[in-house]
Amino acid sequence: MKKRLATVLSMMTTLLLGLTCTAGAAEKPNVAILATGGTIAGSAASDTATTGYKAGALGIDVLINAVPEIRNYANVTGEQIASLDSKDMSDAVWLKLSKRVNELLAQKNVDGVVITHGTDTLEETAYFLNLTVQSRKPVVITGAMRPATAISADGPMNLLNAVRLAACPAAHDRGVLVCLNDQIDSARNVTKAHTTSLAAFNSPLGPIGCMNDGTPTFYNMAARKHAGHTEFDARNLSSLPYVKIIYGHANDDALFVDAAVRAGVRGIIYAGTGNGSIHKDAESALARASEAGIIVVRSTRVGGGTVIPAEQSYIDAGFLDGDSLSPQKCRILLQLALTKTTSRSRIQKMFHEY
Ligand code: SIN
Repeated sequence: MKKRLATVLSMMTTLLLGLTCTAGAAEKPNVAILATGGTIAGSAASDTATTGYKAGALGIDVLINAVPEIRNYANVTGEQIASLDSKDMSDAVWLKLSKRVNELLAQKNVDGVVITHGTDTLEETAYFLNLTVQSRKPVVITGAMRPATAISADGPMNLLNAVRLAACPAAHDRGVLVCLNDQIDSARNVTKAHTTSLAAFNSPLGPIGCMNDGTPTFYNMAARKHAGHTEFDARNLSSLPYVKIIYGHANDDALFVDAAVRAGVRGIIYAGTGNGSIHKDAESALARASEAGIIVVRSTRVGGGTVIPAEQSYIDAGFLDGDSLSPQKCRILLQLALTKTTSRSRIQKMFHEY
C-alpha cells in the first residue's frame, strides 16, 4: 500500500514538474559534471581527423571552459573520475563512479549530475548507474562521436544539452538519461547503433524525449524500475560477479561455453539467434553449465524485440529469458542480481522488472 502511494506521488510530482523545461529560473541549479574520458575529450593531430585520435586526452576543465554557455543554465563543478577510452571500461571504474554519483546526489545542494563518457560502452555505464543510483535526481550521460579538436565537433553542444537536461526539474525521476545529438534516451533502452555517424544512438523501443532547440521535451516514461527505485546497491561492493557473453552463430559449438565454465564464471549470457535460440551443441554445454549452478540467460543478437520462453528444453534446463535487454545489458543485470541471490525465479523476476 505504502509502495503504491509512493509511486502515485512520484508520478504526480513528474506531472506537476511538467514535460518540458525552460531556462531562466531565478536560482540556477547546481550540477556536478563527472568526466570519464572518451572521444568527447579526444584530441587529434589535425582538425579534419575523426579517427586515429587519443580518446580521453583532455581534462574536464578544458571541456567545461570550451562551453561557457553552460553557466547560463547551472552552477557547474567538474571532477575527473577516469580518462579512458571507454572500450577499456572496468567494473572498478563503474563502482567508483556509482559511489561518487550517490555521494553527490545525497547532498542537498547538488541538483543533478552529468557524466561525460566514451560512446562505445556509454549505454552499459548508463544502465549500471540506472540500477545502482539511489536518487531520483537527474543523471545524464553524454559523449561525442567527433574528437574535441575536429571541425564541427559534436561534444560542446552535447555537453551543453546534457547540463540543460540535468538542470531541468522535468528530468526528475526518469532514470538515468542518455543525451546526444538532440535525442534523450533511457539508459535501459538505448544502444549505440552506428559506428561513426553523429546520430549513433538509437532506442529500439523508442527514445524518451528530445532537445527542442535546447529545451528538454519528454514524450515517454521509463516504465521499468530505475534509479531511485532500485534494490541494487553498489556502495559497499568492491567487485562484481564474473559473467560472460557468448555470441551464437551458425555452426556454433561448446568451445566457449566450456571455457567459460572452466574459468569460473557465475553467469553466462547467450546472445542467441532469433528469439534467443541456441545451437544444439552450445545448448548441451549450457545445460551442463546450468546443472552445475551457473545462471544462463538467453538473449538475442537481433537488436530488437523481446526474448520470450520458447523451447521446452530451455525451460527444463533452467535457462532464464533476457526480456528486451541487449546481451551487454543482460550481463550487467545478472552481475547485480548475483550480488543479491542465486534463486533463478528471483533473478527471472528481476529481468521482468528492470
Ligand atoms: C570511446 O568510447 O571512448 C571512444 C569512442 C567514442 O567516444 O566515440
